[in-house]
Formats: sequence, structure tokens, C-alpha cells
Amino acid sequence: MFLEISNLTKKYNNKTVVSNVSFGVEEGELLTILGPSGCGKTTILKALGGFVKSDDGKVILDGIDITDFPAEERPVSTVFQSYGLFPHMSVIDNVIYGLKFIGIKRKEAEKIGIEMLKKVHLQGEENKRPSQLSGGQQQRVAVARGLVTRPKLLLLDEPLSNLDAKLRLELRSEIKAIQREFNITTIFVTHDQEEAFSIADKIMLMNKGELIQFSRPRELYENPTTKFSLDFIGSVNYDEKNSRFSRLEDVYFDDKGEEMEVLDYSFKGQIIEYTLLTSDGTTIRTVSLNRKGEFAVGEKVNAIVNWSPLDKLDK
Ligand SMILES: Nc1ncnc2c1ncn2[C@@H]1O[C@H](COP(=O)(O)OP(=O)(O)O)[C@@H](O)[C@H]1O
Ligand SMILES: [Mg+2]
Repeated sequence: MFLEISNLTKKYNNKTVVSNVSFGVEEGELLTILGPSGCGKTTILKALGGFVKSDDGKVILDGIDITDFPAEERPVSTVFQSYGLFPHMSVIDNVIYGLKFIGIKRKEAEKIGIEMLKKVHLQGEENKRPSQLSGGQQQRVAVARGLVTRPKLLLLDEPLSNLDAKLRLELRSEIKAIQREFNITTIFVTHDQEEAFSIADKIMLMNKGELIQFSRPRELYENPTTKFSLDFIGSVNYDEKNSRFSRLEDVYFDDKGEEMEVLDYSFKGQIIEYTLLTSDGTTIRTVSLNRKGEFAVGEKVNAIVNWSPLDKLDK
């Protein structure tokens, strides 16, 4: 394993915020750490970057134990949500900042920096100050700065969360493309499941400082191993009485199905979401694609529900 974290634990004032977390990342892989606010995502990144000292655990990167290395001696770059650019420096100086510490001369550094700016679509912007750029452009500068030293590990802490929706999608696919091109081992932190699903090779789901599930995105969705995974990812119908659940897409309109009444209808553009009421008083939500025919509130419909047992899940 290229990056191996074992038994990482971090406490603040005797409160455990990261609890005995172990995982590995293959070379060139993009791992997403996903979980609600406060679950310990940033703390893990900071421990990997060398910005906080863990109370227990070991970090091996490319065969070297870096657990006790200071931040500047780790071959690791971190990009924060808030960009963290130097406001008094030009774009190019920001980008090449790390190169002087690894002994690269100014002229050569500039050449490398300009090349990197091209990769993030910022050619021609090198002499501006960060404040003259949009939020998305500033985050591109931060990504370029993180990549220019060719780190063995790139850490991205919610890098897109300050951007508006359209730009977020754009920059997300650019980051993924660059990550692939450079084959750079990356950990991308987010609290947004859709973002995690679209960018990750693997997802590590966390809650309250603990690792809940570590798997490929599809596996996490299709085979949640815990109640928390099931609840956090996607939408779900519960039938507690019979200890079972179904995803919204596991409910089909079908003439052979059980009769239900449409309680609520919500138009969402590509899809329409329905809430249905069964004869025994259970409500069930489902979705159907727009243009596939619609049902009105109060209408009687027939639907089949594919249930899965809840009791095979851990708490
Ligand atoms: N420097 C600190 N001092 C005390 N508590 C902290 C500190 N940094 C983080 N925490 C606490 O640790 C927990 C995890 O925080 P964090 O890693 O930032 O979560 P996330 O990034 O998932 O939102 C939170 O309860 C937070 O309040
Ligand atoms: Mg955080």
C-alpha cells in the first residue's frame, strides 16, 4: 500500500475526535473522506499533512514512516477550503512558492509554474494578485501550487465548498482530470455525497471520529454495512414494523403491484418524486423520470416495493 495509516487517534482536551482509524490508499488513487461536519475529516488531513500531532498511530508513505516528520519535510501538499494564498504575492509567485525550498532556481521555477497554470486554465493571469481573481480562479491557483512540487500525496480539504454550483462541477472534473494525468495519490475531503460519488475511486465514510465504512462508491450505495451508511447516503424508505428498507428507486409503478394513493407530488426537473400511502397506512417515497407519465395527488396507483432486511446492518 502506497499510503498506510494505522490506528490514528487524536484527542482535544481529552475528547477523542479521531478514534483508532486505519486505512490505506494505493498509488494514484483518489480517496474521498466523507462525513458530516465535525466527524474528524479535517483533523485526519492535518495529521497527514503534519499540522497536528496525533496521540497515537502511524503514517507510512511510500515505504517511509513520516509519523513524526514536521510538515515541511513531508512530500505532501495541502489545499484548503479557504485557498490560503499569499495576498501580497502575484499568482506566479504563489504557485512557485514551494519550489525554492526544493532547490529549484527562479528561472526554471517560473517555467514550471507557467506550465502548471496552463493546466488549470489560468494562462495569462500570472502577474495578477489573488484578490483580482474570482473564487474559482483562486482555488485553481491553490491547486497549481499544491501540484507544482510533485508531492507524493495531495490533500484537498473541501476545496470546492466556497464555490457556486456550476463552477463546483467544472472544477471538480478538472481536478479529477489533473489527478489522473499526474497519477497523484489524493485524499479529497467533502461532506457532500454527490461530490464524493462523482470523484472518488474509494470512499471512507466517517461519523463521530470513527471509520464507518470503506469501499468503492457503488458498493457503499448498494451494500451499506451500517444503519449510518444507509441513512447518510441517498434516500430511503423505512418500514420499522417489519424491520426492512427500500431505496426510492426500488419502488416501481406496476399494474401487478399493491394499490396505493398518491399523497404528495414534487416536480424536480429531471425527476418527479412521489409520496405514496399504502392501505395499511405506511408512506413510501419513490421517483420517476420526467416525461414517463405523471400521477396527480389523490390518484390511485399500483406499485411494487422491493424491500431489503434491516437487521443485517450494524447500528
Ligand atoms: N484545535 C481544536 N481544538 C479543540 N477541538 C477541535 C480542534 N479542532 C477540531 N476540534 C474538534 O474536533 C472535532 C472534529 O473536527 P474536524 O476534524 O474539523 O471535523 P470535520 O472536518 O469533519 O468537520 C470537532 O468536534 C471539532 O470541534
Ligand atoms: Mg473540516
